Amino acid sequence: MVDRHPGLADVAPEPGVLKPDPILEAHGLQRFFGGLHAVDVEHLEVERGTITSLIGPNGAGKTTLFNLLTGFDRPSHGEWHLNGGPLVGIPSFRIARSGMVRTFQLTKSLSRLTVMENMMVATKDHVGESFWGALFGRWRHIEAANAKTAVASLERFGLDQMRDEYAGSLSGGQRKLLEMARALMVAPDVIMLDEPMAGVNPALTQSLLGHITGLRKDGKTVIFIEHDMDVVQEISDWVIVMAQGKVIAEGPPGHIASNPDVIDAYLGRHHGEAP
Ligand SMILES: Nc1ncnc2c1ncn2[C@@H]1O[C@H](COP(=O)(O)OP(=O)(O)OP(=O)(O)O)[C@@H](O)[C@H]1O
Ligand SMILES: [Mg+2]
Repeated sequence: MVDRHPGLADVAPEPGVLKPDPILEAHGLQRFFGGLHAVDVEHLEVERGTITSLIGPNGAGKTTLFNLLTGFDRPSHGEWHLNGGPLVGIPSFRIARSGMVRTFQLTKSLSRLTVMENMMVATKDHVGESFWGALFGRWRHIEAANAKTAVASLERFGLDQMRDEYAGSLSGGQRKLLEMARALMVAPDVIMLDEPMAGVNPALTQSLLGHITGLRKDGKTVIFIEHDMDVVQEISDWVIVMAQGKVIAEGPPGHIASNPDVIDAYLGRHHGEAP
């Protein structure tokens, strides 16, 4: 069990509750697919520097919420802010550069690129985009600095030996690690992980957990979609529960495990009732 983040000690465990120092705030955020309310979040705040888990049954809207927050999908309504700055209408690559990155439930590493090339395409100052930099020969410095960051990040995740392998030849777990390593290339404040443990063997799970708590130690905020409740209990400072698009509960992990609304959401609203 990790030490809990002190900032949340006095926060009431209620859906939509205000946090003392939110890095991310969403308000009235909705995404409809036809008649389906995939996301319908009245208000949500994520405290800076925490590991916040996002849980909920299949189809609750967790991935869709990630897609909206990171600019991979457009909301039907609503707004959200990172570090107080509005993100409505901003494309995903700009959101990443402004400090919030995500990984995908199904990994998106580029199989036909090497591990190192995967890292380099994620860098913040891309040579091709920096005309003046290229003109004045600054690009060499930028590329060299990027390569150094990439190697350091690969070392951190134990992938440095694989740098010249094609990403397509990595195991499922190694791809998850590569995605995390790649996400760090833009030096984000917020890292959003969509089921990083899914399909990963138990040995690598522990290492992934270590990396996630390590990110928090570095002062980053981690938002983390996970189905394994033991993992959630072990590493979260705070847990947000979604069901049918809405935030139905929030609180410290211990509080969530015994919350009847959460149990209802997982087992179905009418469990235990007489037919
Ligand atoms: N592009 C889409 N078009 C239509 N419906 C969609 C689309 N994307 C998601 N949905 C629907 O929105 C709802 C929420 O899906 P979402 O993938 O966000 O759930 P989730 O909480 O991530 O579930 P899981 O735990 O299974 O990953 C589901 O009913 C899903 O079928
Ligand atoms: Mg999902």
